[in-house]
Amino acid sequence: MEPDGGLDNACERARKWILDRGGVTSIPSWGKTWLAILGIFEWSGCNPMPPEFWLLPSYFPVHPAKMMCYCRIVYMPMSYLYGKKFVGTITPLIQQLREELHVEPYNEINWSTKRHLCAKEDLHYPHTLLQILLWDGLYTFSEPLLNRWPCNKLREKALKVTMDHIHYEDESSRYITIGCVEKTLCMLACWVEDPNGIHFKKHLARVVDYLWLAEDGMKMQSFGSQVWDASFFLQALLASNLSDEIGPTLKKGHDFLKNSQVS
Ligand SMILES: *[C@@H]1O[C@H](CO)[C@@H](O)[C@H](O)[C@H]1NC(C)=O
Ligand SMILES: *[C@@H]1O[C@H](CO)[C@@H](O)[C@H](O)[C@H]1NC(C)=O
Repeated sequence: MEPDGGLDNACERARKWILDRGGVTSIPSWGKTWLAILGIFEWSGCNPMPPEFWLLPSYFPVHPAKMMCYCRIVYMPMSYLYGKKFVGTITPLIQQLREELHVEPYNEINWSTKRHLCAKEDLHYPHTLLQILLWDGLYTFSEPLLNRWPCNKLREKALKVTMDHIHYEDESSRYITIGCVEKTLCMLACWVEDPNGIHFKKHLARVVDYLWLAEDGMKMQSFGSQVWDASFFLQALLASNLSDEIGPTLKKGHDFLKNSQVS
């Protein structure tokens, strides 16, 4: 769409909203990540997500295994893409978006000053001083080090271990992962690793599991909720007192739940 396109100038109004808030640099961290991937933001404007996190020993007080799954599995592919500093092809459209969505000329933006920015509408919980200090420390000291010899060897190893974890999550969920945020990021990470590889192809085959066409357009489910849905269906069927007539269905449902247990 053109910058002023869409129904009732939707694009123009959306862009005004963004520019009134200091441009797209005020987007929250996940948005910064996706824009950096697209090439509308720089990775140096993102707070570090070092893949070395996946190398920490399990007895460490802070460790991926001690994080909630949704948080852990979102940051897993993000840290891979961050560690690779992956950026898609800069097409004329991307260049145009760079002009449309920022308030300053793209090449003059001081990225390091944008890392902590977040529009007040998107700030669910203000960053604590500890968080800011941790990020600034990682940004100023460890990132430059980890991108230079000899520490870049550690980064290579960390990227490999992170990718192993991504493949493990993909295989154990049969490429559905645990939600659409994780799914798209894991799929992209697999593509970055090898665009012709089997992992990316297997991911592609499960995209349709997330999509459905509703009366008002294409939708994407947040979560692969088959287990959740099946358990509600089964409860409803049991409440109907028709168990005598629907035995085979209940049995299939039970088998499905049993086979779907992911620990
Ligand atoms: C970016 O901003 C920081 C902090 O204000 C400053 O120290 C640095 O010199 C600036 N970089 C450039 C290239 O202007
Ligand atoms: C199913 O049976 C129970 C126990 O007999 C009864 O309380 C309940 O109302 C019945 N449910 C339906 C939907 O008929």
